Amino acid sequence: ATTAPTAGALAGCHVVVSAGGTREPLDPVRFLGNRSSGKQGFALAQVAASRGARVTLVAANAELPVPDGVDVVPVETALELQEAVRTATADADVVVMAAAVADFRPREYQDAKIKKTHAPGQEDSAPTIELVRNPDILAGLVADRGQGRSPVIVGFAAETGDASGDVLSLARAKLVRKRCDLLVANQVGRDLTFGKDDSLVHLLRPESEEVRTVGPASKTVVAEAVWDEVGELLATGGP
Ligand code: CTP
Ligand code: CA
Repeated sequence: ATTAPTAGALAGCHVVVSAGGTREPLDPVRFLGNRSSGKQGFALAQVAASRGARVTLVAANAELPVPDGVDVVPVETALELQEAVRTATADADVVVMAAAVADFRPREYQDAKIKKTHAPGQEDSAPTIELVRNPDILAGLVADRGQGRSPVIVGFAAETGDASGDVLSLARAKLVRKRCDLLVANQVGRDLTFGKDDSLVHLLRPESEEVRTVGPASKTVVAEAVWDEVGELLATGGP
């Protein structure tokens, strides 16, 4: 019922949402991962579907109930997520990158389980795992635009704030760097942690100094606010 004011606003649109967190395998039984639950991405998919959109949800390792009417593409790694998002984006009006994409992956995948050394004198030895950069999927989507269709592109940022700046200034810098149309900055840390049910987010747009703050609120309320902003961008002709 809370979606009533703008229900139908996304009718006829194809929206792509990435959700969850990628896993970068080390060997058949181990991976590098992160704590993203996928809940925010799934809420975005559900609200978009309820507003009339055709929804493709690229879900990285998120074992959550699939919202009605949503097409799910399950993926594991950042490279798989990139492939799935790119394919789905070919005819999309909106792409929302809510997934937590690993910035790095192990340089090498070991086909067999990595074993400890039991040799005498080497009981304390440990391997060094070398990492390489994953592609920045969001940056790639932005770089590819202008060739024909140009979807509205939404980025997410989980920020704690640090010595180099508070959450809002870090988010503003990330928006400038990413050149997406809307940045959803999730304030994390202290009581606001991954997987918790309530979120505090700031919505930033490149052409405006204004910031819309939502929450602490449920992931559904946050999703509604994001689609409200996207609806405005679509209505004003998009990017
Ligand atoms: N993202 C992406 N591909 C990556 C890393 C991130 O598409 N390899 C997307 C995320 O889905 C999110 C946005 O970029 O929408 C911001 O992610 P974030 O991790 O906050 O930004 P980074 O540019 O990776 O910067 P850092 O982790 O150093 O803060
Ligand atoms: Ca990152």
